[in-house]
Amino acid sequence: MVIRLVIFLAFLYIRVGDAVSPTDNQDYAALTVLTKHWENLPLSWTGGDPCGNEWVGITCRSSRIISIKLSSVGLTGQLSGDLVSLSELQTLDLSYNIGLTGSLPPNIGQLAKLTILILIGCGFSGTIPDSIGSLQQLTDLSLNSNKFSGQVPASIGKLKELYWLDLSDNKLSGSIPVSDGTNPGLDLLVNAKHFHFGINQLSGTIPDRLFSSDMTLIHLLFDNNNFTGMIPSTLGLVQTLQAVRLDRNKLGGHIPSNLKDLTDVNELVLSNNDFSGPVPDLTGMNNLNYVDMSNNSFAAANVSLWLTSLESLTTVIMENTGLEGQLPVELFCIPLLQTLMMANNQVNGSLDFGTTYSSQLLLIDLRNNSLSEFTVKSSYNFTLMLADNKVCNFSGVNLSYCHAQQDRGSSYSTPVSCPALQCESGQKPSPKCKCGYPYTGTWTFRAPSFSAFGNPNYFKSLQQSLEESLVSLNLPVDSVLLSDVVMDAFGYPKMRVAIFPAGQVLFNTTGVISLGFVFSNQIYQPSKGFGPYVFIADSYPYFGKNNGSRIGVIVGAVVGSSVLFLLLCAGGYAYHRKKIADKAKQQANANSFVSWDSQQTGDGIPQLKAARFFSVEELQKCTNNFSEENIIGAGGYGKVYKGIFADRQMIAIKRSQAGSMQGSREFRNEIELLSRVHHKNLVKLLGFCYDQGEQILVYEFIPNGTLMDALLGTSGIQLDWIRRLMITLGAARGLQYLHELADPPIIHRDIKSTNILLDERLIAKVADFGLSKLFGDTEEKGYVTTQVKGTLGYLDPEYYMTNQVTEKSDVYSFGVVMLEMITARIPIQKGKYIVKEIKTAIDRTKDLYSLQELIDPILLSSATPLVGLEKFVDLALNCVQDSGVDRPTMGELVQEFENIVKLAGMNPSAESGPLSCTYDGASGGDAWNTSTDDSLLRHSGSTPLIRTESRAAAFIEKFRITGHIS
Ligand SMILES: *[C@@H]1O[C@H](CO)[C@@H](O)[C@H](O)[C@H]1NC(C)=O
Repeated sequence: MVIRLVIFLAFLYIRVGDAVSPTDNQDYAALTVLTKHWENLPLSWTGGDPCGNEWVGITCRSSRIISIKLSSVGLTGQLSGDLVSLSELQTLDLSYNIGLTGSLPPNIGQLAKLTILILIGCGFSGTIPDSIGSLQQLTDLSLNSNKFSGQVPASIGKLKELYWLDLSDNKLSGSIPVSDGTNPGLDLLVNAKHFHFGINQLSGTIPDRLFSSDMTLIHLLFDNNNFTGMIPSTLGLVQTLQAVRLDRNKLGGHIPSNLKDLTDVNELVLSNNDFSGPVPDLTGMNNLNYVDMSNNSFAAANVSLWLTSLESLTTVIMENTGLEGQLPVELFCIPLLQTLMMANNQVNGSLDFGTTYSSQLLLIDLRNNSLSEFTVKSSYNFTLMLADNKVCNFSGVNLSYCHAQQDRGSSYSTPVSCPALQCESGQKPSPKCKCGYPYTGTWTFRAPSFSAFGNPNYFKSLQQSLEESLVSLNLPVDSVLLSDVVMDAFGYPKMRVAIFPAGQVLFNTTGVISLGFVFSNQIYQPSKGFGPYVFIADSYPYFGKNNGSRIGVIVGAVVGSSVLFLLLCAGGYAYHRKKIADKAKQQANANSFVSWDSQQTGDGIPQLKAARFFSVEELQKCTNNFSEENIIGAGGYGKVYKGIFADRQMIAIKRSQAGSMQGSREFRNEIELLSRVHHKNLVKLLGFCYDQGEQILVYEFIPNGTLMDALLGTSGIQLDWIRRLMITLGAARGLQYLHELADPPIIHRDIKSTNILLDERLIAKVADFGLSKLFGDTEEKGYVTTQVKGTLGYLDPEYYMTNQVTEKSDVYSFGVVMLEMITARIPIQKGKYIVKEIKTAIDRTKDLYSLQELIDPILLSSATPLVGLEKFVDLALNCVQDSGVDRPTMGELVQEFENIVKLAGMNPSAESGPLSCTYDGASGGDAWNTSTDDSLLRHSGSTPLIRTESRAAAFIEKFRITGHIS
């Protein structure tokens, strides 16, 4: 203890001489004690200043440490309780350091600002401290794949903001805590989307009280535990569920009949329990892809069941389920069916899969049934297994289907074919034939919606999408290799991943930490069918290490205790003053803000001045009762409908998915923001509806669709160079307004070409503020977000690395949109990232910077000269600089665009209001009027409406709301 204090003081002393001290003294001292318990620190963690000298993995704000990310660097040691002195810490990710052992500090709850705590795949043990429930800001808690034991602390139920809770693959025991009026419990986590508790020793019944219609869970993974008793019927109330795994427990009794109310569920796995009673009827679960009920004690049931009514099934696994009778031929016509496993039942009669069976079929396993006949009506190339049926019982039979054995694992590997390549020892050849030390790990999928593990296409597309995503995040990645796809003992498909470095033979520490964070924080999201995953990286042993030798040197420093005393007092005083200042600031904020709560009426309906309240009935009426035909877009938030009032005014209606609490927060956020924001280049909020459980936003209708559709030519609009300049200028002005003039300023966070809409005069309107977060003053700037949001391809690499959102993240995304303007292609296409493509191809000594290959052919072939195109490219590349400080502000960009527009002979203020007619006339009418040109209109064939309506119906308006990562 004394020694620790001496070290602590010694460090403070050393730092007295620093005129400018980038790192706060308290933080510096805490970090020093922390690292004393660690070995294998990154090399950059030697001397110097953590905030000032850019220690890898450390992010600071105003000299305070707010984030530590050190995944897969091979750290060993323990996590010291001095961690809590880092009182501004918001993110801690130490994943994939198997050598980090011992228990979590019991006082961890003192880290009041912590939002992300990710300790996946380390060697931590002991109980999870109760104080964890004091981390009031926590949104992500991932403690999976450690050796934690003891109970799940009830205090976790106090984490109101919790979104992601992963405790799987530990040694946790005891039952699931629920609230009882005095004590908290997990039933209170109504904002949580993920309960991942699989592979533990949890026991007891799953409490009724755990589930309610207030919950918004997507993934409920309780598999591989010791749960007993029945499935509570309250589970049927959690309508948001998409994956439910209860397999490999000791559950029993009848399955509640309302399970089929969970109509969003894709994966339902109930196998290896002791369920009795009838096989549950799943009629109506029309999104169900994968169902497994094997190895239970269900009453005998006819195999006809309800299966044929579920068109989305890919996989039916009902081994040893008490099925009898003859298989209906319709079963094999389920269009996406890949796998039918019904071994060990009493299926009898003859097998007939007809001639028009699913083209996806890979496996039919009917071993050990009572089939007496099999008529082959056509050749088939899937695996058919009929051993131990009467049809194979007579001697002398030598038919392949009587001997075929199960072969579910696929040994898929990304092909690497580099015969001429000789790699130095230890290095491996990449799929693109580069030698290097790959970053490797094991990737496990916990509830995939398909079973076609033998089909290489699934893994090819996964490999390609991961590769593209990593490159688009600006990581130095050459290529990705997937291999050894197998089914593990817990029923999960898993595979090995190797990620190869680009332009060097090994990743540096920053590269390794970034890759780790991409997986540990689930920044990479595979396409939906793969479901939730866990990635455990191997440690990356190839770079040099610092073995903490500096500690010894510093302990020797002579300490003047009076100096230290003064220093500590001064520190304390400053801290006190800052507290007072913070409090005052908070109050000021509260007053200047339209507060939802303070303006609530008795029934909870917010009263806001600018936006109008719409009733559900009113909106039902104008959307033909929210009919499918009125849908003009969809996203994670919900659907977007077009509505038409009796007076023919058109509106766009964003309707959130029922019961989405996360949505409710975004909803409230969006109303508060938009009702205060008015600019000609921003989509206007007309009103909202918060009624009868509905959360709806009503916007002005923007008839000409998205910028992306216009550029890709899917909406029938052609944009010449002048129009593209004007649209860029308009969108930039909208963003400039959000950044510099809105009060409080707004960062958009999801700028992309589908979020820029074009009105009837092709004026740009920036849409979708659902992701915006307020930032009031400099204190709030650099706000560390709880979830990285945005869209791959547009995502600022600095933002996703630090989680710190600034307006420069919008500038990055805007730069990508500018490149789309020039190339008319989506940011990531066939594995190629537009930013890289342009940077590689550019030759500033040549005409049009030698980018002819990449420039939209429509621009090259048009009569309009490409005035200022080079300047435009320069500006775009400035926007996508790696570091935010090197990028221009939106204000600076607006000025530059105005200059280009002038050069092109246009009046920069022409795009607003009636002045645009100037251009209209000057261009001879033809170009500018395209959007109202009848030749572009196709008639919808529905009710005759005013002209704008038929045009609107003709164009594909993708009023996309989200598509962001969350
Ligand atoms: C098949 O099994 C069912 C129920 O056990 C029985 O009623 C039926 O007669 C059997 N059919 C044949 C062809 O054996």
